Amino acid sequence: MKITLKVQKFDPEKDKKPYYKSYELDMEPMDRVLDALNKAKWDEDGTLTYRKSCAHGVCGSDAMRINGKNALACKVLIKDCGSKITLEPMLGFEVVKDLAVEMKSFFKKFKSVKPYLINQDPPPAKERRQSPKELDKFDDTTKCIMCGACTTSCPTFWADKDYIGPAAIVASHRFLFDSRDDADEERLAMMNDADSVWKCHTVFNCVDACPRNIEITKAIGEVKQKLLYDSF
Ligand code: F3S
Ligand code: FES
Repeated sequence: MKITLKVQKFDPEKDKKPYYKSYELDMEPMDRVLDALNKAKWDEDGTLTYRKSCAHGVCGSDAMRINGKNALACKVLIKDCGSKITLEPMLGFEVVKDLAVEMKSFFKKFKSVKPYLINQDPPPAKERRQSPKELDKFDDTTKCIMCGACTTSCPTFWADKDYIGPAAIVASHRFLFDSRDDADEERLAMMNDADSVWKCHTVFNCVDACPRNIEITKAIGEVKQKLLYDSF
């Protein structure tokens, strides 16, 4: 099928403002948007800039706005987009070039919640055991691939760059509800910060944008509940 791929281009070293460039491509319906981007870059415009790595929805590097909605280019099929596909960078981050955005601030917030297991007990001889019921409490939030699609679809984040954002809260939830983790008090104090969970207004855009279908708003609500009932 013939498609028009309309891509927002911007090179901060040359351009005063972003502009759109269209590529006419012949694609298969079951090709992914990433295949179309690759074809445009490899056959027509070597300057076209975007991130990608795994091409299988795992690394999280090719999140972008596809026809106005955040998604991974490697997970969206051409047949589901129609013959005109508009690609733009995620909102709320500085554009490095074309579809690639500066994510340093995103990863800084992510790291600030200590997204790793904290347990002061001496390591057991085998694994730290956990029941399936205990795993159920945080299994969903282990699925995050740090693509940033949730945070950059959140109107609270667009309006207030100090908001820690849903991705960092999801990372905190993943350890806060893990029975093997010891750092509840420290994690809850971080989540009780003025720029954390209380800034979430349950808009649900993050849930809609998440390519892993994580129930993000539910997770944020669970952290709020834990703050209300476990720490006071
Ligand atoms: Fe934003 Fe999601 Fe909350 S879109 S306001 S983090 S429910
Ligand atoms: Fe890795 Fe799309 S390229 S998630």
